Amino acid sequence: MSNDILFKPLKLGALNLPNRIVMPALTRMRAGPGGVPNALNAEYYGQRASAGLNITEATAISVQGHGYPQMPGIHSSEQIEGWRLVTSAVHAQGGRFVLQIVHHGRWSHSSYNPDGSLPVAPSAITPPGNAYTITSEQVPYETPRALETSELPSIVADFRQAAKNARAAGFDAVEIHGANGFLLDQFLQDGSNKREDAYGGNIENRTRLLLEVVDGIADDIGRDRVGVRLSPHGNLGGLSDSDTVPHFGYVISELSKRDLAYLHLIEPRASSAGIADDASIDSADNATLFRHLYHGPVITAGGYTPEMGVVAVERGLADAVAFGRMFIANPDLPERIRAGMPLNAFDRSTSYGGGAHGYTDYPALRATTASAA
Ligand SMILES: Cc1cc2nc3c(=O)[nH]c(=O)nc-3n(C[C@H](O)[C@H](O)[C@H](O)COP(=O)(O)O)c2cc1C
Repeated sequence: MSNDILFKPLKLGALNLPNRIVMPALTRMRAGPGGVPNALNAEYYGQRASAGLNITEATAISVQGHGYPQMPGIHSSEQIEGWRLVTSAVHAQGGRFVLQIVHHGRWSHSSYNPDGSLPVAPSAITPPGNAYTITSEQVPYETPRALETSELPSIVADFRQAAKNARAAGFDAVEIHGANGFLLDQFLQDGSNKREDAYGGNIENRTRLLLEVVDGIADDIGRDRVGVRLSPHGNLGGLSDSDTVPHFGYVISELSKRDLAYLHLIEPRASSAGIADDASIDSADNATLFRHLYHGPVITAGGYTPEMGVVAVERGLADAVAFGRMFIANPDLPERIRAGMPLNAFDRSTSYGGGAHGYTDYPALRATTASAA
């Protein structure tokens, strides 16, 4: 099968991609103290700059928005300086670089808040499972505090400031994380949102916070530098929705009116990081269900092989394809796909935390690619 279609240039808003192979957000928990990105992070992202689009790991918009140890932030001047090192490395290699911005909401822990205050959420519902504390202990999730209506403008303001900080740090665009069970997704899905104010109840209300964030950031940095990631049917963090298809159909139709850089959809077969080894193109149902509702460019993610990616783009289900675990293991993934070369295997054990091993030491086909930072 020819994979030429993955190497056709693509315009995503203000960004011109030389290929359609996207490195999606991948949390690696290797930032320095204070969530400040460092030289090792710059080397890692610089190695992967041949992606058509390179998207960072989820990055916290505020102190309250953190939820993993050694997760980076974009709310302090030290973090902005740290990210400058990383954006320079990617741009020096000719890449296009997007910052994924997130608030963890109920998927956080009080240890991240200097005053020990509880995590916040749309409603005071305890998520299933264990949180990572700031010192990497695993403890049961706490019952979050429901945000007051009067506090929501400050959440929007934090997202907006984070996007401005991203531009100041040298990023080309931001991706608003509305997927995978974090705060904005907690508002979208009715299993976690039991609010009775203008941000809960019907579909329009549950979408309100996301759209306020999108519109605010679009005003500040330009709509052509804003992407949104969603995971319809995603149940990470114990999320659920009683009416997924009409609900996300509404969200996607609203986003479509806004002429953003792109919409990034995660397929449910891989909405939990890395479970999709037996996936096939026939289970690519979010792209099939929602593509027609979105008039701009769509990136699809979740359990794709290069062959499945070719089929998705050929069928018009997406314009670009993200490869997560493959990009962790293969810094030069586009070159390998183009040449039909074997891929390095992904080592799950080094995914989260640690140092260079399993991070910057996956070999490239050509040594110069791997060592260039
Ligand atoms: C180690 C790891 C970390 C991840 N971190 C994030 C993240 O920070 N933000 C996000 O939106 N998705 C995250 N994901 C999901 C990926 O972006 C992607 O959607 C998922 O891995 C499915 O793609 P794949 O089958 O090609 O790996 C993560 C996945 C993995 C494996």
